[in-house]
Amino acid sequence: MEQPGVRLVTAGLLFSPVPGRRIQALPKGGFLIDARGRIRAVGTAEELQRQYPAVPCQDFGPTSLILPGFVDLHTHLPQYQGLALDRGELLSWLEHLIFPLEARFADPDFAEQQAELFFRAALRCGTTTLVVFGPPYAEATRRAFRVAARLGLRVLMGQTLMDCHVPDALRTSPEEALKAVEALLDEWHGYDGGRLSYAIAPRFAGSCSRELLRLCAEVATRHGLLLQTHLAESPGELRWIAQLFPEAADYTAVYEAAGMLRPQTLFAHAIYLSSSERERLRRANCALVHCPRSNVFLRSGIMPLRQYLHEGFRIGLGTDIGAGTSLFLLEEARWACEMAKLRAFLSPEEAPTELSPEEALWLATLGGAQALGLEHTIGSLEEGKDADFIVLDITALEPAQPLWSEPSHVLARLLYTATPAAVRAVFVRGRELFRQNPPPQSGIS
Ligand code: GUN
Ligand code: ZN
Repeated sequence: MEQPGVRLVTAGLLFSPVPGRRIQALPKGGFLIDARGRIRAVGTAEELQRQYPAVPCQDFGPTSLILPGFVDLHTHLPQYQGLALDRGELLSWLEHLIFPLEARFADPDFAEQQAELFFRAALRCGTTTLVVFGPPYAEATRRAFRVAARLGLRVLMGQTLMDCHVPDALRTSPEEALKAVEALLDEWHGYDGGRLSYAIAPRFAGSCSRELLRLCAEVATRHGLLLQTHLAESPGELRWIAQLFPEAADYTAVYEAAGMLRPQTLFAHAIYLSSSERERLRRANCALVHCPRSNVFLRSGIMPLRQYLHEGFRIGLGTDIGAGTSLFLLEEARWACEMAKLRAFLSPEEAPTELSPEEALWLATLGGAQALGLEHTIGSLEEGKDADFIVLDITALEPAQPLWSEPSHVLARLLYTATPAAVRAVFVRGRELFRQNPPPQSGIS
């Protein structure tokens, strides 16, 4: 993919996450991008221009804000068209809306068209890295990889695998799954210097046999791949999994028996975990994904996020389309703050449970990168990392003409009021993948 040349990029304000769930603000800041799309130096515009007088500068203007691109740790490509359609709780929603929708991906042309819509929508929302449950068919997943390769964003994706308790049209036997995964892996894993990766995706214990789960863990371990699934999301699901796996002491034990507890495994939701489960997941250094909007939409519950952070889990955020209702990860971060307040209100004995806007923005960026083990490549704007960043327009936030404009105020307004309309440009490895011009001024004064 063609790479633009060496240049400086500067903005009115730059936010970059740092360890300790903090965000560092750099007014009138920017960085130098090298010919390979890496960040080479970070500083104020003045310092950078003094140090690199001959390098061209792309300045986004005094009301611009640069952030690292968002890292969406959990979402479903074949559910994009199901977004916002309410069919009750998890198991009923899967049966009545999601399974019939996913079956349409047997048509590879439909899959390709949907992948284009989905990845373009993610880019418009400022997401530069996505971990994706792909279509439940190999050819459809191949087409989706092809679209991601062309659009330029960073994607970790796998065919959604199921072999029981789902309609016949969605089943893939363990033998077929192995063949399909190995072929897709060969074609796409590591593509474009690691921009695309294959991430094994058994749906959950409710639609996978013991054999399929074991196979997924084995292939993921053998090839050093990310493994992703759902865990302890809703009370109805928990009761059903207990019936399906009577030999397992708890939900986590099902995945444990399959060999799935490892640092490169992402467990989405993880709302209902006993202290023993948390202890085992922590010991194996598994990462968790918080999807607060999906958890409300499906009436699943509220993750005890603060407790998990305190216990040292690596955690990031996921939009979980189509149970989540948009691909805008900042809104997920907003809901993480609000749901933490609600949890504090409902369970005062757990205090403190709250999450600050600074911490929420951290989870949407560096937290996600850490959960993927990619914190040395993406997640913040630091020398040596890839230049995956987005430019937002501060004047698109509320209120108009704000009384307070310190970086901490901008961060709070960003978290609580930003919409995708504030995203002006999106870059991966320094290459511009999306640009939106500001809307024309209204004629009414
Ligand atoms: N559990 C099993 N499959 C799914 C899914 O597609 N979405 C969510 N939110 N939970 C699941
Ligand atoms: Zn999901």
